[in-house]
Amino acid sequence: MTLKIGLLGLGTVGSGIPRILEEHKQKITQITGTEIVIAKALVKDEFEKQHLAVQYDIPLTTNIDEIIQDKEIQIVVELMGKIEPARSFILKALSNGKNVVTANKDLLAQHGRELIDCASENDCDLYYEASVAGGIPILRTITNSLAGDEVQRVLGIVNGTTNYMLTKMVSEKMTYDRALKQAQELGFAESNPTNDVDGIDAAYKMVILTQFCFGMDIELSDIEINGIRGLALEDIDMADRLGYVIKLIGSSEINDGHVSASVGPVLVPKQHPLASVLNEYNAVFINSTGVGQSMYYGPGAGSLPTATSVVGDIIEIGKNIKLKMTGRPFNVYHETKNLASDEEIISKYYFSLEVPDKVGQVLKFTEIFTRISISYDQIVQQQADGQRARIVIITHSMTKAQVRKVTAALKEVADFKLLATYKVLKD
Ligand code: HSE
Repeated sequence: MTLKIGLLGLGTVGSGIPRILEEHKQKITQITGTEIVIAKALVKDEFEKQHLAVQYDIPLTTNIDEIIQDKEIQIVVELMGKIEPARSFILKALSNGKNVVTANKDLLAQHGRELIDCASENDCDLYYEASVAGGIPILRTITNSLAGDEVQRVLGIVNGTTNYMLTKMVSEKMTYDRALKQAQELGFAESNPTNDVDGIDAAYKMVILTQFCFGMDIELSDIEINGIRGLALEDIDMADRLGYVIKLIGSSEINDGHVSASVGPVLVPKQHPLASVLNEYNAVFINSTGVGQSMYYGPGAGSLPTATSVVGDIIEIGKNIKLKMTGRPFNVYHETKNLASDEEIISKYYFSLEVPDKVGQVLKFTEIFTRISISYDQIVQQQADGQRARIVIITHSMTKAQVRKVTAALKEVADFKLLATYKVLKD
């Protein structure tokens, strides 16, 4: 008996699938009780992928109907990325009774509910472990292993490109442009790296993680998103001097049933486990009432790591098909969305401020912070040349509403320039 799959896309991740199925054929057959065979692969250009077709004996097609209408294909694996035509192809596959595996975070974050509902209506499985943190088995861990736990906060370094760039900017003082170019050459970056550097890719992953951790379907617009564009080497240096490292952190947390999510540069204490996540590696750090603190670390992109997650999903579906148990959502946990207000979102903050280098300026901005009841944890004058002075403040905990107020007040002072406002992670 064989289980036939149809592959949509034979790119970086897609080409890892036949390799894994071949190299671990005996083990996979033992686990699923059936041999898994790629019946057909959809490609844009048959000639370009001919070497893979020959190497792994995969029939190629440029016509999606040859996969979706093929009655023998039970699982469709979508690895094309982007929204269209991936969304339409998945909906058609599900409507034709085919189970689906995808690594498409853009699609899941923006059209997840539509796809999940379509899968349920057709008694099909829809799995997407590889959509968050590529090779790290994080979604299955949350939905299965932490099913009896209560997650309070999930923090993620879930974009390899920006983590690689920040690592190089910190350790080698590499410029932003050069670091981005290297990340692109190494193949971590999205086809349009804007999504990486502006925090969008990380935000897609936080939408999915929020769904799994808190059962809530949040939208991209519910997330405060800031990228690393414009991050100054002075702030990286200052963070270092104060005992922190700047990371692009996705965060989602729940307080009194209210969820808040953000993506942005965050000052992470050097002793925090997330500070040790370097280069293109990803990590997801969870605070939960049962387990306490746990961190899941590994490669967030790349052919074999991501393809391994995809094959894990295929095997899971293979088992469900055998047990006639397909049709249960990957994550069953569901709660009504309830967003936290700005008064409920609390963090320590880092402010970098440029002021005239003359008498009375510290008093002037301290009056503003005092009026808004914000207390300093640390304050440092970084540079002062007789003209301008650069001041860095780390506050005690304050609300997002206070951040808005202080930011507006500082901007009103003609001589002041607010250079950066970042969250500071507590130990
Ligand atoms: N561009 C993504 C990253 C790839 O850099 O992490 C994996 O989603």
